[in-house]
Amino acid sequence: MLQRDADGTPTPDLKIRLSDYQPSAWRIASVELVFDLDIASTEVYARLELESASATPTPLRLDGEGLELIELRLNGKRLGPLGYRVEAHALELSDLPASCALESRVRIRPQANTALEGLYLSGSAERGFLLTQCEAQGFRHITWFLDRPDVLTRYSVELRADAARFPVLLAGGNAVGSGMLAEGRHWARFEDPHPKPSYLFALVAGRLECLSQPYITADGRAVTLNLWAEADAIGQCHYALGALQRAMRWDERSYGRNYDLDVFHVVATHDFNMGAMENKGLNIFNAKYLLADADTTTDEGFRAVEGVIGHEYFHNWSGNRVTCRDWFQLSLKEGFTVFRDQSFSADMHSQALKRIEDVATLRRMQFPEDAGPLAHPVRPAEYAEINNFYTATVYEKGAELIRMLAARVGPQAFRRGTDLYFARHDGSAATVEDLLAALGEAAAVDLTPYLAWYAQAGTPRLSARCHHEPATRRYVLRLAQHTAPTPGQAVKHTLPIPVKLALFARDGRMLPLRLAGEADAVGVERVLELTDAAAEFVFEDIDEAPIPSLLRGFSAPVILECAMPPGDLALLLQHDADGFNRWEAGQHLASDAFRAAHAGAAQYAALAAWTGALGALFAQTDFSDAALLAELLAPPAISELEALVEPHDPDAVDAARRRLEQALAQALGASALAARYTALHAAEQGAHDAPAQARRRLKRRVLELWALVDAPAALAAAEAQFAQAAGMSERLAALRVLLRHGDAGMRHGTLTAFRARHGQQPLVMDTWFAVQAEVAGVDALDTVRALLADAAFTLRNPNRVRAVLGTFARQNRTAFHRADGAGYALLVAQLQALDQLNPQTAAALAQAFNGWARLEPKRRALAESHLRALAATPGLSRNLADIVQRSLA
Ligand code: PHE
Ligand code: ZN
Repeated sequence: MLQRDADGTPTPDLKIRLSDYQPSAWRIASVELVFDLDIASTEVYARLELESASATPTPLRLDGEGLELIELRLNGKRLGPLGYRVEAHALELSDLPASCALESRVRIRPQANTALEGLYLSGSAERGFLLTQCEAQGFRHITWFLDRPDVLTRYSVELRADAARFPVLLAGGNAVGSGMLAEGRHWARFEDPHPKPSYLFALVAGRLECLSQPYITADGRAVTLNLWAEADAIGQCHYALGALQRAMRWDERSYGRNYDLDVFHVVATHDFNMGAMENKGLNIFNAKYLLADADTTTDEGFRAVEGVIGHEYFHNWSGNRVTCRDWFQLSLKEGFTVFRDQSFSADMHSQALKRIEDVATLRRMQFPEDAGPLAHPVRPAEYAEINNFYTATVYEKGAELIRMLAARVGPQAFRRGTDLYFARHDGSAATVEDLLAALGEAAAVDLTPYLAWYAQAGTPRLSARCHHEPATRRYVLRLAQHTAPTPGQAVKHTLPIPVKLALFARDGRMLPLRLAGEADAVGVERVLELTDAAAEFVFEDIDEAPIPSLLRGFSAPVILECAMPPGDLALLLQHDADGFNRWEAGQHLASDAFRAAHAGAAQYAALAAWTGALGALFAQTDFSDAALLAELLAPPAISELEALVEPHDPDAVDAARRRLEQALAQALGASALAARYTALHAAEQGAHDAPAQARRRLKRRVLELWALVDAPAALAAAEAQFAQAAGMSERLAALRVLLRHGDAGMRHGTLTAFRARHGQQPLVMDTWFAVQAEVAGVDALDTVRALLADAAFTLRNPNRVRAVLGTFARQNRTAFHRADGAGYALLVAQLQALDQLNPQTAAALAQAFNGWARLEPKRRALAESHLRALAATPGLSRNLADIVQRSLA
C-alpha cells in the first residue's frame, strides 16, 4: 500500500528530511534468518535480539511492506493480536523490555514480485533462480526489521529449498555448513562476521554454474572468488574474473584495502533495475556488466564490465565496512566509490581518455539534471522516494567533489586521510562530514568550505576574463562565479573553486608562473583557488599576451565561460600537453561553431578553426594516440548542445550539429578518410590490446565521417566489415552506419543477419533493439512501435525497456520531441503500463522529460500536457509520482 490522499492519489510530498535525523531508539544485537524458499511462496523466519538505546524503552516500530504475517513471538511467547499493531508500512510493539528477542514468521511471494526489489524470481518459473535486491529499502519486503543503514548487526542465515530445483544456495558471509533435509530439500548456513545494515543483505538460490579461482590478499587471506551465471553464460565470465583480481590488487596497492571474508561471490542476472549491487560478500550484477566475450561485447562494453566490477568490489570498504548513516549521505559511498573506480580504470588504461569520457558523461547526464526541475544537491536535504536519488548528481558530481578534495590535499595526504577514515569508522555508519574531517586532519587543511558543494544544487558558472599589460609585463586573470537558482534554493553561496591552469606562449611553450608578491616562479602549471564571488590573479614577467589553458583536467565541475579567439583554441587543440584540455579546446571550438550554425551563419571562424585544426591533426601520420584522435573528431553530444540555445527546437539543434559533422567530414576529405579507413582495416586482427582497441575506435569514427561524404563507398566498406567482423565492436560499428545510410534492403538484411546470429543472447538483442530505436528520421516512431510489438520485447525486463524506450527518449531527440507530440504520447502510455509492474524503472525512464520547460513554446506546451496527463493517472506509484510532480513544479 502507498500513502494516499482522500482522493486516492499518492502523496509524494510526505518528505523525509535530513534535519529530522534521529538515531534509532533500538539496536539489533544480532539477527538470525531462516528462509524456506520456493518460487510462488517463501516463508521467512527472523529472530531479532533487540536492545533499547535508553533505559526507558520507547515503542518499537519495525519496517515492513507486503508481508503476510504468520506469527510473532516475544521472548519465546506467542503474541496475540493485542500485543502488536500492524500499519501500512510498520509493525508497532509497545511496552517491550529494554532487551528482548522478537521472532517473526512471514510469507512473501517472489514470483509475483515484478518490482525487482526484495526477493524475486529472475527468468522463468521452470528454470529461473531466486535472488534479492535490498538497497535502498528492499529488506522491508522480506521481513519486519529496522530497515535503515545506521542499524548494523551480525547476520546468521539459513536457506532451505528443494535440492533439485535450487541446487545452489548462497548468502553473504562465510559458509558454515550444509546438509540434506526430508523430502528432497537441503539447507545451507552462512555467517557474516562483519556487522552490516540490512540493505547489504543478499541471497541467491537456483541452478547456477560457477567459475572459481583462488586469491591470496596482500595481508595473506586465502579467498575463493566465485562468479555465478546460468549454464549458457558461464563461459562469458572469464573477463570479469580477471578484472576482479585486478581490482582487488589495485585496492590493496592504492588504498591499502584487503578483502575480508573467505569467499567472494558475484552473480549475474538479466533482471535487474540498476547496474550492479555491492551486497556484502555476494555482489549481484546486471548481466550487462558481468558477461563479456569478443563475439558479443564491444570494447566499450569490456571497459564497462571492468569499471563496474571495480566499483562494486571497492564498495566493500567504501560503503560496506564504512557505511552511510542515512540515505542523505548516499554520495559518501557512491561519489567516493565512483571516484575510486574512475581512478582504477584510468590506471588500467589511459588517464587522459578516461578523464575525457568521465567529463563527457558528466556533461551529458549530470549538467542537464542540475539545470532542470529535478536539480538537487549531492547531499539532498529531503526526499519523498529515495530510489529516485540514485542520480548522476549523487554519483558523478559526487565523484567530482572527491576528486577536488583529493587534489586539494595532494596524493600522500589523501591516502593518509582515507586510511584514517576507514580506521576510525570501520564497522559503523558515517557522514560526509566524517570523511571531510578525516581527510582534513590528515592534511592539516580545513576542508569544511567544501561542504557547501554538497549542500548546493546547480552547476556554477565560472567566468574568466584576462588581459595583458605590456608596459608592466603583467597578465591579469579575473575569475568570477555565479550559480543560478534551482528549485527550492533561490539564494546561492560562493564555493571554493580550484582552477588548474597553464599559460602558453605563441610558440607552444608553457610559461613559468609567478604571481604578484611571489619571489620566484612556481612551475608552469598550478592551481588557483577562487573562494570569493570574484578575484583577480596577476602573473608577472609575461612578455606577450599568452594563451590560457584553464581548468586543466577539469579541476572543478563548473561551466567555464571564457571567450577565446578561434586561433588560440586551435593552438591549444594542437599543442596542449594536457590531453584533456586539448580535447576541451576542440569541444569549445565546436560549441562556438554550433552556436553560429544554429544562428544560421553562412561561414564562421570557429568552424573553420575547428575543422582546420582537426584536419591538420588527422594528416599528421605521427599522431600516435588513435583513441584520442577519435575523441577529438566528435562534436559535443546533443544534450550538451541543447543547453547552449534557449529555448531550443530539437530539430534545429540536430540540424546544426549535423552541419558541423558534415563540415568536418568535408574538411578531412573523402579520399583521406577512405585511405585512413583502409589502413586501419588492414591493421585489424581482432586483437584486444590497447592499440587494437584504439584503432577500432578511430576506425569507427572514420567510417561514420566517410559515410557523410561518400556514402556508397563507405556503405560498401561497412557491409564488408559487418560480414567479416572479428568481434562485436566491428560488427556494431558497421551495423550503425548501415542503419543510418543504407537503403531499406540493406537495413533489413543486416538486422536479420544480426538477429539470426545473436537471437539467443539477451544482451546482444538489447543492442539489436537499441540501434534501431536510436535512428532519427520521419519513420523513427514507427520503428519504435514495431520494436514494442516484437515478440522479444517485454516491459518486464528493465534492460529491454531501457534498450527500446530509454534509447528512444534519451538518444533519439528528434523522434521523442516530434513537433506533433506523438513521441510524448508514446512514452506516457508505456510509462503508465510499466509503472504497474516496475515503479523504479518507470521513474528512471520518466526523467527523459527533464528539460521540457526549455523547449520552444509549441513542444513545451505539448510536453507539459502529456506530463500532466501522466500525473493524473490513477494509482501511480510513489516513485513515478515523485518524478512527475517535481518535473511539473
Ligand atoms: N549501490 C549500487 C551501486 O552503485 C546501485 C544500486 C542501487 C543497485 C539500488 C541496486 C539498487 O553500486
Ligand atoms: Zn555504487
